[in-house]
Amino acid sequence: MKPTVLVIDDESEIRYSLNRVLSSKGYEVLFAASGEEGIEEAEKHKPHVILLDNRMGGISGIETLQHLRTASSASMSVLMTAYGTTQTAIEAMKFGAFDYIIKPFSPQKIIQIVENAVRAHDDLEEAGDDEPARKVDPADLKEGIVGQSEAMQEVFKMVGQVAASDATVLVTGESGTGKELVARAIYRHSHRSEGSFLAVNCAAIPENLIESELFGHEKGAFTGATNSRQGKFELCDGGTIFLDEIGDMTLSTQTKILRAIQEGEIQRVGGNKNIKVDVRVVAATHKDLDSMMKEGDFREDLYYRLSVVRIQLPALRERSEDIPDLVEFMLRKLSSDETVKAHKVSSEAMARLVAYPWPGNVRELENLIYRSAVVAKGDTILVKDFPREFVEGTGNSVGSQDPEPVDDPEPEAPSATQVEEPSSTSSEPTKDEVVLGDSDTLSQSMSLDEAFDIVYAKIRESMPDTVLGTMEKEMVQRALRETGGNQVKASSLLGITRATLRKRIDQYSIRF
Ligand SMILES: Nc1ncnc2c1ncn2[C@@H]1O[C@H](COP(=O)(O)OP(=O)(O)OP(=O)(O)O)[C@@H](O)[C@H]1O
Ligand SMILES: [Mg+2]
Repeated sequence: MKPTVLVIDDESEIRYSLNRVLSSKGYEVLFAASGEEGIEEAEKHKPHVILLDNRMGGISGIETLQHLRTASSASMSVLMTAYGTTQTAIEAMKFGAFDYIIKPFSPQKIIQIVENAVRAHDDLEEAGDDEPARKVDPADLKEGIVGQSEAMQEVFKMVGQVAASDATVLVTGESGTGKELVARAIYRHSHRSEGSFLAVNCAAIPENLIESELFGHEKGAFTGATNSRQGKFELCDGGTIFLDEIGDMTLSTQTKILRAIQEGEIQRVGGNKNIKVDVRVVAATHKDLDSMMKEGDFREDLYYRLSVVRIQLPALRERSEDIPDLVEFMLRKLSSDETVKAHKVSSEAMARLVAYPWPGNVRELENLIYRSAVVAKGDTILVKDFPREFVEGTGNSVGSQDPEPVDDPEPEAPSATQVEEPSSTSSEPTKDEVVLGDSDTLSQSMSLDEAFDIVYAKIRESMPDTVLGTMEKEMVQRALRETGGNQVKASSLLGITRATLRKRIDQYSIRF
């Protein structure tokens, strides 16, 4: 089946010339002369690609885009705009455009964009036919912890075993592996689940405040202590306290924590009364407490007291088989967010996710998925929705297994991260293209004379022998483009005979 392209433009000449260009490449072209008509046509024919003008009588291209999202969500829309402002570009992408193009554009450029759009459309369709999504166990969803790997199953077993007791638990693992999640799971499954759960991040509280935070203080204990105050241990009586980043505590605080655990009592700062507290401690750290002990930075007795039960969380790269489930879980969590359309990941994109070593573990995966789901155009996250650094970092090893990675990013395809800089001079110039530098940009307010000065100087600089020819070729090309390739009209526009026009077309090998 021929791919279909719907052209929505109120100017018949543009429709005419796009029809010529696109039909010559084998596309089936449909037309609409207004946004309203375009929405109807899109709904009826579900075209692969929709090219739409921004400035039209009736509703604008941007408004049309918003309707197209529901009328034909699988179609890839490309906004054609004469005013390449960042604002329009951002708006276009925000309302779900696949791309935008600044007028006037060459036939080659539009063909390239349409080809990319058709490919993106097909990738999405194909991804939709992928094997049914893996089903995350609904129980996991409630729990908020996912992991079918053997290592994680071991973790869950441990959680189940220790939850019922009051034993102190030390949770270790690299940053972002889910230590806090495990601490909360222990609490939820314990007989203390009716009591409170208080988390204290020892690394985030300044040293002079941590003791007061944990144990409270008496009035006048230090400057600013105008009232007595209960600390977390007291507040948490009957509950569970989560001491996060325990490796970041001073030796003096460590001593007091040890006492609270061992004796079950504390003293407020500046007080001398022993206060009984019934608190279960779950501690966590990403630091290597063994080597800290050797260096004398962590009390050995506290270490043994804390690690009555020790749960070591595996790094994500050691259990990459969990990645698909984690991704599905994360997308499921995002599904309540109306601005996020994506709820699955293409197989090529998933292969990249699984192959990546994830130094920031689950947290890093979560951030990437969130970011990609926001920029994804359809209901499927594709490789091109990933940040460039990530794609480059994962490219070769995975891509090489697949001779033609279907959703590999085109080097020149603008992505959402590039929309800030719509510029016709951003791509590499071909050998007979003239590129204007920043300092001599042509602007609307310039006189024709000034504009010619710049163009003349630029052509002379790069192609000194062919100033006239270069100018002539450009003018002929532009006239042909404007008239949709109509040689009679183009020649009268240029003030030359049709025969001369033909000669110039041959002489400069102009293809249209
Ligand atoms: N097994 C998992 N299933 C689902 N989500 C997870 C899992 N592990 C971690 N996460 C998510 O990843 C993020 C990081 O988890 P968490 O805060 O528990 O890690 P951490 O080990 O405490 O990290 P840090 O050392 O940086 O404090 C959280 O948003 C959490 O919900
Ligand atoms: Mg944490």
